[in-house]
Amino acid sequence: MDSIHIQGGISLQGKVRIQGSKNAALPILAATLLTVDRSYLKNCPRISDVYAMISLLQRLGCIVVWREDGLQVDSSKVGREAMGGEAVKGMRSSLCLLGALLGRCGEVLLEHPGGCVIGERPIDLHLWALEQMGAVFLEEEGMIHGVAKELRGADIILPKPSVGATENIILAAVMARDDTCIEGAAVEPEITALCRYLQCCGASIDGVGTKRLVIHGGGPLRGAEFIVPTDRIVAGTYLLACVGAGGCILLEAAPAAEMEAVLALASQMGASCLATEEGIYVNASGYPKAVEHLITRPYPGFPTDLQSVALAVLSAAEGDSVIEESIFENRFRVAGELNRMGAKIEQLTAQRVVVHGVKRLRSAEVFAMELRGGAALVTAGLMAQGETMVAGCPYIYRGYENICRDFRELGARIVSV
Ligand code: UD1
Repeated sequence: MDSIHIQGGISLQGKVRIQGSKNAALPILAATLLTVDRSYLKNCPRISDVYAMISLLQRLGCIVVWREDGLQVDSSKVGREAMGGEAVKGMRSSLCLLGALLGRCGEVLLEHPGGCVIGERPIDLHLWALEQMGAVFLEEEGMIHGVAKELRGADIILPKPSVGATENIILAAVMARDDTCIEGAAVEPEITALCRYLQCCGASIDGVGTKRLVIHGGGPLRGAEFIVPTDRIVAGTYLLACVGAGGCILLEAAPAAEMEAVLALASQMGASCLATEEGIYVNASGYPKAVEHLITRPYPGFPTDLQSVALAVLSAAEGDSVIEESIFENRFRVAGELNRMGAKIEQLTAQRVVVHGVKRLRSAEVFAMELRGGAALVTAGLMAQGETMVAGCPYIYRGYENICRDFRELGARIVSV
């Protein structure tokens, strides 16, 4: 299943149900380590990053079982294990184990984590914040060794609204002695989901969904049943693909309230979207309008995770667009592959491109180099005339349960080989 073949140029029709959110599920899975109990996570996506997190939990002693509509995690027995290998290096979210294992065991030994190659992705804020809570870190031969005899609450002012650092602080803080206050917390919906899960487990957290979180520490937590929210990035990918390829689709259960910036972009590009209780209806002619200046921003701004897909769609739009990436330093790697499909993307700086819209993309053999860039190439393939082959697809399966099945449900001619 390394490559995806797409017969492009067909408009999308029909409906597709949106999967559970990757970026919500992964920290929640790490959070199950804080309960000496069983949790049941419904709507957990069956993606390779979730399988990697499950393998890490199992190495620590958790018993994890897939049921029909979700995942059961029993964290009653958790041991101290050095966490390394592909599941850590290939997945940025393994970083959540820092806060979770310090909270559970007072000690963590983790290989320096990786994730998609979209910038330097330092971890200084994670370590600095946890140090303020009493943790001490040493780096030993590529491993991060953290110890906290006793975690204590702290007042932490984050200089940047880092999603992962906010999650790590929350994970440690629910088990710490006294209260922790985070000023400048990230407000992404996935952080709200993590807080809601922890609240179901008995944690006390104020200010959920705001930049100022107060976590009343002290544990202990019980297990809980929780529904993982639907994935706003997957929904946004399919929505933008419809804007690019044209058509009339329903994105069932898409979280419209979390997608305002994406809906605004679709409307600027000439598509009409209607949010109902069922999900989002999208109607698009297939020749989008260019946008003057699209800039990625922390939530509720336009998500960096959809920048590559927007880039693909704007490649075949009427007019020129400027896209600015304000979050990561190296997130235009897909531009070269799109140019091989006839796009005219000119890189002005590392974080700014101008896209000269062309009438139509052409099919080509292209290579996915990271998760969202891969989804952008699939989108470009749906828009292009002829057969496109996208190689390097394991990256895409890190975040999309079955992108081919989903687009086939929308009438596309697409298979994985
Ligand atoms: C999470 C998401 C990712 C999304 C990103 C931004 C998960 C698994 N991943 O990644 O899909 O693209 O949020 O919405 O949820 N930074 C530092 N020092 C740190 C940490 C971060 O300087 O210690 C910087 C980063 O380089 C980046 C910015 O802060 O420039 C935001 O990164 P962050 O919000 O931490 O992203 P992730 O949590 O890695």
